[in-house]
Amino acid sequence: MLSDLTEIEQEVNSFSVTNASELESFRIMFISRNGRITKLFDELKNISKEEKPAVGKKLNDIKKLAEGKYNSLKEKLADSSAVKETMDLTLPPAEFSVGREHLISQTLQQMVKIFREIGFKVTDGPELEEEFYNFDALNTPYYHPSRDMQDTYYIQNNVDKDKKYVLRTHTSPVQIRTMLNNKPPLRIISPGKVFRNETVTYKNYFMFHQLEGLYVDKNVSMRDLKGVLSYFFKKFYGENTKIRFIPSFFPFTEPSGQVDITCFICSGKGCKTCKETGWLEVGGCGMVDPNVFKAVDIDPEEFTGFAFGMGLERITMMKYGIKDIRILYQNDIRFLDQF
Ligand code: DAH
Repeated sequence: MLSDLTEIEQEVNSFSVTNASELESFRIMFISRNGRITKLFDELKNISKEEKPAVGKKLNDIKKLAEGKYNSLKEKLADSSAVKETMDLTLPPAEFSVGREHLISQTLQQMVKIFREIGFKVTDGPELEEEFYNFDALNTPYYHPSRDMQDTYYIQNNVDKDKKYVLRTHTSPVQIRTMLNNKPPLRIISPGKVFRNETVTYKNYFMFHQLEGLYVDKNVSMRDLKGVLSYFFKKFYGENTKIRFIPSFFPFTEPSGQVDITCFICSGKGCKTCKETGWLEVGGCGMVDPNVFKAVDIDPEEFTGFAFGMGLERITMMKYGIKDIRILYQNDIRFLDQF
């Protein structure tokens, strides 16, 4: 019997297993209830007393050997099949969501595109602005009552005592920077953030966006202003859109106007959106005040110009029927994903 055992031992050692079904054959052949090793235990009773201890020990050793081999192979196979599953290169990739431009950025891009097509160049200015550019040079000295129209964030400045800083309340200071650094003819737009110390409500926010326009050349007239704005709003809201000017006041323009467009919901017939008037206010405009030209060293006898400013949030909210400005800045994906 000892020689039988040596043979089985060799077979256990040399049995090669590469997958789960071969492992199962190994188990059935050697260690299952009817396996060869289990069967040999039954035969122990037929062995002489003298031989029994040696044979019994050898049989036990082989049983341990076979069980050990079985368990470690089982573990190995489980590990390698787990690795195989995560490496299945034929699986489709997991879905992931891609971000998109914010609604206000989309409006900004559309506006810039339209103005670029008719020769306006995009310029930029700082959001932390000197009081001089935001107010004084725009014909708005400190005692001017119109400063009250804009609730300003004044910024404490301990570094440069000669200068006073504000968060710009409008994009109009870019006009001044442009005219100081460039000679006419000038045709620019300047979109960007502006800040006002407003109580936050459904229609006011402490930060919003404006787009400023400026055109300076010889013989620029109000007719040009109306033509440019009319062109823009037709492109932006549709060919049937008309515009009108209503007298208004801004320190940096004379005369000044409020720009209205025909309501694009009811085409001017009167509805809820336009409060039954048929018109919607979309911005301010006017002819550049001679005092502004003097502040930037341009001769008002030689040059004239027009300027305008529009609020991007207002224009966007009207276009999509958005009722509350705050929702634009809450970063709620359910809202943002719609555009
Ligand atoms: N800066 C003005 C505001 O924020 C808007 C504006 C009005 C800009 C008339 C202009 C303009 O350039 O000519 O209310």
